[in-house]
Amino acid sequence: MEQYIIKGGKPLTGEVLISGAKNAALGIIAAAVMTDDIVKIDNLPDVKDIDVLLQAIEGIGAKVERINRHTVRIHGGKINSVFLDNDYLRKIRGSYYLLGALLGKYKSSAVAMPGGCNIGSRPIDQHIKGFEALGATVKIEHGMINAKAEELIGSHIYFDVVSVGATINTMLAASMADGQTILENAAKEPHVVDVANFLNSMGANIKGAGTDVIRIKGVQKLHGSEYSIIPDQIEAGTFMFAAAASKGDVLIKNVIPKHLEAISAKLLEIGAQIEEFDDAIRVKASGRLGHTHVKTLVYPGFPTDMQPQMTAILSVSQGMSIVTESIYENRFKYVDELSRMGASIKVESNTAIIDGVERLTGAIVSAPDLRAGAALVIAGLMAEGYTIIEHVEYIERGYENFENKMQDLGAAMEKIDSEDTKAVRKFKLKVS
Ligand code: EPZ
Repeated sequence: MEQYIIKGGKPLTGEVLISGAKNAALGIIAAAVMTDDIVKIDNLPDVKDIDVLLQAIEGIGAKVERINRHTVRIHGGKINSVFLDNDYLRKIRGSYYLLGALLGKYKSSAVAMPGGCNIGSRPIDQHIKGFEALGATVKIEHGMINAKAEELIGSHIYFDVVSVGATINTMLAASMADGQTILENAAKEPHVVDVANFLNSMGANIKGAGTDVIRIKGVQKLHGSEYSIIPDQIEAGTFMFAAAASKGDVLIKNVIPKHLEAISAKLLEIGAQIEEFDDAIRVKASGRLGHTHVKTLVYPGFPTDMQPQMTAILSVSQGMSIVTESIYENRFKYVDELSRMGASIKVESNTAIIDGVERLTGAIVSAPDLRAGAALVIAGLMAEGYTIIEHVEYIERGYENFENKMQDLGAAMEKIDSEDTKAVRKFKLKVS
């Protein structure tokens, strides 16, 4: 099993380049098979979830050519099946975008019930509501979601909850339906906009993405395209927090500062310094940071995917902070791990009350999911002594080369094999 080992206490300095947005890329890869022409996608993040989805579309007959780590050419002209099920696919969330994409193109799709991070119940009723409104029949049988339609017909859909997944999935199917679809109470996240922009680059007619009303005029055919994915808002935010938490000075490059406003605002509030450039952001901090109250919200509010990293930084900030999670009911599982490192945090239903301690101390901790794993890395960077983080496979689902990017910023951090009995000693000798 692979683990991270970190010696805390070193300020991060230098520059880091942010990769493409994982959650946009998942929707874009699914959309790419909706045309029979060739699509070239650039700025693809080199992370596990993307590999799984690319293998899945290869499995149903799409031609996938990896030009390099960040560029792929996809040809969905020879798809021979709309049935997708395998062990890996069941573990990721983005697999469900193939439901909407294949339903739009072939009026039929069957995808294994998706997994994803275990952060609370993750229903798909709004996806089903969207497909059914377009005229599809949706059945869940033997662990598969089956969607079928004689024809898809544009419709007026009001989502009961704001859902990134349901918005993207319905948009995918509706872009090849007959007539106009209006999605109300749609998600506004940057990756929703990126998937819409990509579909439009293939000839779709989608207007209003980024607002809560999206209007889609269905087209009969989509064509080939070349597209570059937006930078990952959450990877950027994670490095911003790591920079401030380590009392460092880091220039975070290849970002869209507008997407980071909620994150920058909180960092400023607790005493970090932020400098914005066109496509970069500099984060600097010194001394002990202050406390704040945060509530996760849909975009443009503070993102739930930054909640664990925020709690980690506040665990050593001066005073009492409150973090409220309003998107998922079970996203505080990592708090026990932070407590192992000396944090003083009490969780009451969807709220964490954090009494900032002077310091954290290194310990052996376990990543319960992707973003919580990143938060434990931030905690390790701040802690006194050595921290070992187990289950880095969760972190690798969504962060490209995490340990190398951290090392380049001066972090004493390495990935080691838990079976290698000498690895910890070697690391300690190297960094002492
Ligand atoms: C996406 O998940 C992201 N995943 C998540 O990122 C992210 O946390 C989430 O959006 C919120 O921003 C991908 O893009 C692959 P939702 P998604 O549908 O689409 C409820 C990460 O760390 N809901 O916006 O599954 C749901 O229970 C991951 O990168 C319904 O009730 O999230 C939740 O409370 C973790 N019915 C809320 O809506 C539905 O049919 C938002 O979920 C769908 C959702």
